[in-house]
Amino acid sequence: MDVGIAESAAQAASIAADLIQRAVRAKPELVLGLATGSSPVGIYDELARRVNDGRISLAAASAFMLDEYVGLSPDHPQAYRSVIDDIFTRKVDIDPARVHGPDGTAKDVEAACIEYEQAIRAAGGTDVQILGIGTDGHIAFNEPTSSLASRTRIKTLTKQTRIDNSRFFGGDLDAVPSHCLTQGIGTIVEARKIILIAAGRGKAEAIRQTVEGPVSARWPATALQHHPDVTVLLDPAAACRLD
Ligand code: F6R
Repeated sequence: MDVGIAESAAQAASIAADLIQRAVRAKPELVLGLATGSSPVGIYDELARRVNDGRISLAAASAFMLDEYVGLSPDHPQAYRSVIDDIFTRKVDIDPARVHGPDGTAKDVEAACIEYEQAIRAAGGTDVQILGIGTDGHIAFNEPTSSLASRTRIKTLTKQTRIDNSRFFGGDLDAVPSHCLTQGIGTIVEARKIILIAAGRGKAEAIRQTVEGPVSARWPATALQHHPDVTVLLDPAAACRLD
């Protein structure tokens, strides 16, 4: 695990964009794994800048989102599908038809999860996965005690994550869905390269556990310790509990 402590969240995002730029230049048909939430926004902005000034192109790339709320229509402003369109797809030159997400409105949720796994495999697997981390150490929506070998499936969101995410729903906890579809930890760690980005003191304990704690389902991100190519990019506040 490579851990980089940047001077700021913006610098961490720029370093992440450098890594993605290198990867997409080496393989224009890169398969990118996309996280939603606030952590990766700086990376997406930086990628958009580089696409717009001609330094890179994502025209041949494809992407797979990590997760989606259950029960929100794809055009609901807080559905991860809409969010990723706003913060990423519309700002870069990727073909929107090649940006995929789990179907949170599927009638047969189990079949939708299996199909999603098959689609990732059919695309050749994820080359570079961008990850955020929850205050409780979750990655995607794999909450504490999730199996470290889990695959894409339906999960119940914890109260803490719903509280954390209620800021996106105007502070209304009741408006935050109770379930989601999420790539499993076993799915995520199959990505060839993983970039985890975190900023702020609120993430400091999760980062300490991820980098220095024992591997445990109690802190799902600790599963990344077994992966051969993980870069953790932090601002000083997120790094403040590291030894
Ligand atoms: C979102 C996701 C979540 C977030 C995490 C941190 O697709 O997978 O694991 O990365 O909840 O969220 P932010 O970045 O908003 O602090």
